[in-house]
Amino acid sequence: MSVTSPQPIGGPGTGTTGQAGDLGGAGPETAGYGELAMEAIGLRKNYRLKGSEILAAVKDVSFKLYRGAVVALVGESGSGKSTVAKLLAGQEAPSGGRITLHGMPVGVMSRRQFRRYKSEVQLVFQDPFSSLNPIHTVRYHLARPVRLHQHPVSKSALDAELVSLMEQVRLTPAEPFLAKYPHELSGGQRQRVSFARALAAHPSVLLADEPVSMLDVSIRLEMLTLLDDLRTRFQLALLYITHDIASARYFADEILVMYAGEIVERGPAEDVTQQPAHPYTQLLVASAPDPDNLGSVLRGGGQRAARNIDSLGRVTTGCPFHPRCPFAEDKCRSEDPPLMQLSQARGAACWRLDVAAPQLVGAAKVEPVNGI
Ligand SMILES: Nc1ncnc2c1ncn2[C@@H]1O[C@H](COP(=O)(O)OP(=O)(O)OP(=O)(O)O)[C@@H](O)[C@H]1O
Ligand code: SF4
Ligand SMILES: [Mg+2]
Repeated sequence: MSVTSPQPIGGPGTGTTGQAGDLGGAGPETAGYGELAMEAIGLRKNYRLKGSEILAAVKDVSFKLYRGAVVALVGESGSGKSTVAKLLAGQEAPSGGRITLHGMPVGVMSRRQFRRYKSEVQLVFQDPFSSLNPIHTVRYHLARPVRLHQHPVSKSALDAELVSLMEQVRLTPAEPFLAKYPHELSGGQRQRVSFARALAAHPSVLLADEPVSMLDVSIRLEMLTLLDDLRTRFQLALLYITHDIASARYFADEILVMYAGEIVERGPAEDVTQQPAHPYTQLLVASAPDPDNLGSVLRGGGQRAARNIDSLGRVTTGCPFHPRCPFAEDKCRSEDPPLMQLSQARGAACWRLDVAAPQLVGAAKVEPVNGI
């Protein structure tokens, strides 16, 4: 077997598909990051639609979140990113697969266990306005999680904690901001309150679902810089969900590219964005910074097919990307490719990596090997 031949990494249902630490040991685990906080293993989520139709929103997704490291989950609308976040946050029950937190399996929880879990695993949403209650002040929003986390807490300790939280997210002087209602804040200030509320629970895992996409473009970088700073200061294991692969490059250590519920490419952020292997990742990179403009960069047959089939018109046989792929051939229409190992920390799910990414595969013949 040539070292330049991509090899499948696990397979559907094996629970070993493309975990960072499994990609030859060169993932975040060996790159100086903190301890393993959370792991998704072969995670699946099916939704029952009208009648007997089933939508597989998440299919066999595996990855690890390490303290102090950022994993970006990138993909277009409907690819399953938020569903992954909801599964990790315990808001949805998986249809298959497992989640571990600090090495312990996450299963059915009592109310008390779930409260503890929720303080460990915090979710920040895209829209800070809808996630804050308009009838309550900033103080109220922050005091609740502090009280839950530090019970009992004296008034002076609570006040000190609230001021500290406001300083962490740079809403100062703290007192006037604590007295405000959400509608009195700008979008960026509201999202800072959302970050502060998440931190109030002292989490080890932060799931940030498109945390800047609803903010004005002019402040997105500033907010990402803040998030990056908080990740370092609190050694957060951060899952950053985004449409925007350019921001993932700036921000993340590892990128997972998701398409139609599957991870189709993964690897170190710089490598994935500089030399994308999967045809879908290539399109994402080519369409940045306007990821909604994918159609205009599709070539040949892919361009024609893309007008008829979007990511919701999912294919049931073969590679999920084949109706849009400029490299599709017969095998792509009949068999779904497993994640193939490109290098120690890198994988892509494509039968034709020798054509789509010859610079990564080299001259070697692509030889899928099953059962690894
Ligand atoms: N409760 C639900 N019932 C049925 N289908 C659902 C449900 N929640 C999500 N879906 C479907 O699952 C798929 C994945 O949705 P999800 O919200 O995870 O995508 P996403 O990648 O976060 O998209 P976006 O970028 O638009 O937020 C979509 O087709 C969506 O319609
Ligand atoms: S397997 Fe085939 S259709 Fe899928 S991305 Fe690769 S070349 Fe395109
Ligand atoms: Mg979403």
